[in-house]
Amino acid sequence: MQLRVIHPSELSPREAHALLISCIAPRPIAWVSTCAPNGCTNLAPYSYFNAGGSNPMSVVFSCTNGRDGNPKDTLRNVQATGEFVVNIAPYWLAEKMNQTSFEYEYGVCEFEQVGLTRAPSLYVAPPRVAESPIAMECKLFQIIPHGTGPTAANYIIGEVICLHIAEHLLKPEGVVDNLAADFIGRMGESWYVRATPEAMFRMERPTRG
Ligand SMILES: Cc1cc2nc3c(=O)[nH]c(=O)nc-3n(C[C@H](O)[C@H](O)[C@H](O)COP(=O)(O)O)c2cc1C
Repeated sequence: MQLRVIHPSELSPREAHALLISCIAPRPIAWVSTCAPNGCTNLAPYSYFNAGGSNPMSVVFSCTNGRDGNPKDTLRNVQATGEFVVNIAPYWLAEKMNQTSFEYEYGVCEFEQVGLTRAPSLYVAPPRVAESPIAMECKLFQIIPHGTGPTAANYIIGEVICLHIAEHLLKPEGVVDNLAADFIGRMGESWYVRATPEAMFRMERPTRG
């Protein structure tokens, strides 16, 4: 196998983005709801996303600077309010999730634009997506910017204060039934993956002795 050496510093922000998202795939998608200080709600998908730890439970996603170098609405709202909700979109919500990535003017409510229902959260101001079977209410722990200008990262780390899980997906063991959840993931270019049972396999962790 012959490997080509590529230096990100020699790529344009657009090329670097396209290469990165095609290398790290599939990625889970945080569908993040936030509120502006005036209460106006916002919803957008973020696939630079993962779990961070579980004591306390935390998540991280990166809200990159926009193509103009300016912060996206989600970052502005989290900076101003310190609160957000991570909703999970199963396959049947993929189209609506994608529609919420449209760059609406600041203050335009994506919930209304794409026809989703706001359900009040228990501990934070941003509502959760009522149609989502999994939602995590989060309080901001830290924002870590990395770089400046278009597509530079802003790591938003949140502590999960409370989870809302659809009863029909909760197993007696206290975990989500991954065979039934119909999760999706973001890949390179315009590709997505659907976690159907046929696509899954199991492996037990190696044990000592
Ligand atoms: C599936 C998907 C994943 C995305 N992941 C990210 C991401 O991880 N970081 C990011 O900054 N933008 C990401 N975007 C683009 C944002 O959703 C888009 O810029 C959106 O307009 C931001 O909305 P806001 O300004 O309301 O926060 C993604 C878009 C899609 C469709």
